[in-house]
Amino acid sequence: MDKFLIRGGKPLRGKIEISGAKNSALPCLAATLLTGETVTLHNVPYVKDLITQRRLLEDLGATVLTPELRTHKVTAANIQTFEAPYELVKTMRASVLALGPLLARFGQAKVSLPGGCAIGTRPIDLHLRAFEKLGAEVSLESGDVVASAPKGRLIGADVSFEKVTVTGTENVMMAAALAKGKTTIHNAAREPEIEDLAELLNKMGARIKGAGTDVIEIEGVEQMGGAEHTIIADRIETGTFIVAAAITNGELEIKSCQPEHLGAVIEKLREAGVDIEELNQSTLLVSCCARGLQAKDVTTDPHPFFPTDMQAQYMSLMTQAEGESSIMETIFENRFMHVGELQRMGAKIEISGNTALVSGKTNLTGARILASDLRASASLVLAALCASGETLIDRVYHIDRGYETIVRKLRSVGADIERIKDTMAMTAEEK
Ligand code: EPU
Repeated sequence: MDKFLIRGGKPLRGKIEISGAKNSALPCLAATLLTGETVTLHNVPYVKDLITQRRLLEDLGATVLTPELRTHKVTAANIQTFEAPYELVKTMRASVLALGPLLARFGQAKVSLPGGCAIGTRPIDLHLRAFEKLGAEVSLESGDVVASAPKGRLIGADVSFEKVTVTGTENVMMAAALAKGKTTIHNAAREPEIEDLAELLNKMGARIKGAGTDVIEIEGVEQMGGAEHTIIADRIETGTFIVAAAITNGELEIKSCQPEHLGAVIEKLREAGVDIEELNQSTLLVSCCARGLQAKDVTTDPHPFFPTDMQAQYMSLMTQAEGESSIMETIFENRFMHVGELQRMGAKIEISGNTALVSGKTNLTGARILASDLRASASLVLAALCASGETLIDRVYHIDRGYETIVRKLRSVGADIERIKDTMAMTAEEK
């Protein structure tokens, strides 16, 4: 397993280009299964999860061409199988996004039930109950979810999510796009990625209204066609680089981003003392204000509130703020795996239930630490960038799932970071 070696203490300065949103590209790629015509997606980030999603489409029988690194042309004209196997689902939970489109277009789908993961149990019961509302028969067979539409086609219905679910909303939107009649989703997720997917689906011929609000109406259509679409900027990568500028006391110009998707994050970081200037609609200039960082409490909540995907990075920042901050995680029950590692670097953090109390400011020192999930890895990189001495982060494959060329991007603005290849693994592969 590859590691990162980081020598901290260097202010980051320069320009950073933000990539396309992983969590938008994943459902948009799944949506290509809804038609036999070609769907072209631009600005697909070159990260591990997207490579896995592409493999899933190809395993199902779709053709995926990449005329340019970040452009995917998908044609799902000859789908051979309707199954996402355990091998893929266990490496990436977003494979469950194949369920909705397969069920809608072919009336059948089989997707391995994802187990728990590093951030919580993460069931998909709400997706399955919604499919049942649309008339699907759903059963669990040897660890696989097997779903079918008895008359070959789903039927529009009222779906009310008891909890806001992002991929659940996406799955139902895709399923309902080809259903007979009208579907209304109540308590829908309002994330920008939902709006992006709805925009693509509408370009493909779907009739969806209200995406971005908590009520989404979908008038089912008989069939959908090809389309061309550019994926939105990754708001979590943007947030991570804002913190990188602030935590290293540097100054970064963050380009090709969409600040309108980061309202709660920008507001909270400004409160904490980060200078964030909007140079234009897609560029931010970030630095740390002269009075330094102040501790500010935060609670994660579904969009438009502070995202759980920024909680770990915010915690690293709060170790550098004066005072005590309370960070409450309300989305996932086990998303504090980074705390133990930050403590190894000298952070003063206490956990009480779903709340972490951070006392700052502490001088972090380099240590050997372990990444546990994607966003936890990002928080450890941030902590290492401001720590004195060397930090060696193990299991960085987590970060490769969602941050495009993070080492190259950080080095280009002055970070002392290098990837140490696992030569044992390479030898095994070469054999
Ligand atoms: N939940 C259920 N039952 C369900 C679905 C969800 O109980 O059927 C619960 C979850 O366990 C969780 C809450 O509802 O407690 C919200 O989960 P949600 O379904 O919204 O999460 P998700 O769709 O699985 C997406 C992102 C995550 C992000 C969350 C929350 C993708 C591919 N993943 O996951 O991204 O944290 O929404 O915003 O869009 C990441 O990128 O690092 C990441 C984990």
